[in-house]
Amino acid sequence: MTTLVTGGAGYIGSITTRLLRSTGRSVVVLDSLENGHAAAVQDTPLVVGNIADTALVSKVCRDHDVDEVVHFAAYKAVGESMENPGKYFDNNVTGSQKLIDTISACGITRFVFSSTAAIYGTPESVPVVESSAVRCESVYAQTKLMIEHLLHWYGQTKGLRSVSLRYFNAAGASDDSTLGEDWRFSQNLMPHVMKAILGESAALSVFGNDYSTPDGTGVRDYIHVEDLATSHVAALDYLSNGGQTLICNVGTGHGTSVLEILHATERIVGKPVPHVFKPRRTGDPSECYAATILAAEKLGFTASRSLDDIISSAYAWHATHPNGHNTN
Ligand code: WQD
Repeated sequence: MTTLVTGGAGYIGSITTRLLRSTGRSVVVLDSLENGHAAAVQDTPLVVGNIADTALVSKVCRDHDVDEVVHFAAYKAVGESMENPGKYFDNNVTGSQKLIDTISACGITRFVFSSTAAIYGTPESVPVVESSAVRCESVYAQTKLMIEHLLHWYGQTKGLRSVSLRYFNAAGASDDSTLGEDWRFSQNLMPHVMKAILGESAALSVFGNDYSTPDGTGVRDYIHVEDLATSHVAALDYLSNGGQTLICNVGTGHGTSVLEILHATERIVGKPVPHVFKPRRTGDPSECYAATILAAEKLGFTASRSLDDIISSAYAWHATHPNGHNTN
């Protein structure tokens, strides 16, 4: 039996793929390689194609005897989603629906979905619980919420059991520094901190230091990407043991500010992070970090790695992979 991982050539997908194989599972990756890298898949079978290609997905499920799916494949640039909503609704919603229809038709009933804490928008209070109001502030977040809703109804009508994991802020790189984020495309904080300290950019722009937080900078819940990968294995095990459809946060439960990240990086690396303070970024909440009790109770998942582990792994990866997985 085999796990199909869509988007397994990406940042979180590739690290999760390798962890799944270390548990003894057979894995096959489906990835369009639009944003992913074949090198990141290493020696896992890779099918290059689109999640909306019904004939291809059916063939992969048959040829590889797929019995469960982890679905990462999606566009995830919040800013781009506001400039090109059609691209995001077409791929993240229509594409995901076609994938889900196809795997259901193949008799597959276990599905783990990569959702996001962005669906909370600016949370009413922190830590954010799963029953908190959802208030999508971007097309990207809306597309993720729509698939959560679709999975609920496919559970009610087709017996598809799913776990939607609402990621907080994935950061860091694989423990052995061979898999990580491609900082050429990411707008996230950690890659930008590493660009600044490694001299790949003049300085980190700190977006806002006038928030109502202890040091005035934005607070988020940074979870090590290896811990995030572990939560997907826990979700698959939960479903294999008969677990019912579930939506849960995946974070550490701790909030960390931009300046705390910056100072920790300077302490670990031993040199300054050049930075300049800029106005707030539109749409950024001041604080967003997870309530983690549901993942602990239902999945038996608790993040184990520290902020220092996150920063050290990110630095080790970016210092040795300035062009991501492109060796040229
Ligand atoms: C974190 C903090 C910024 C960059 C986004 C998506 C979310 C998820 C994770 C996909 C904020 C500050 C950032 C920089 C900065 N992605 N910052 N300078 O916005 O919390 O979440 O990425 O699922 O869906 O919304 O992450 O890393 O962009 O920002 O000061 O160059 O760092 O203001 O306070 P965010 P982020």
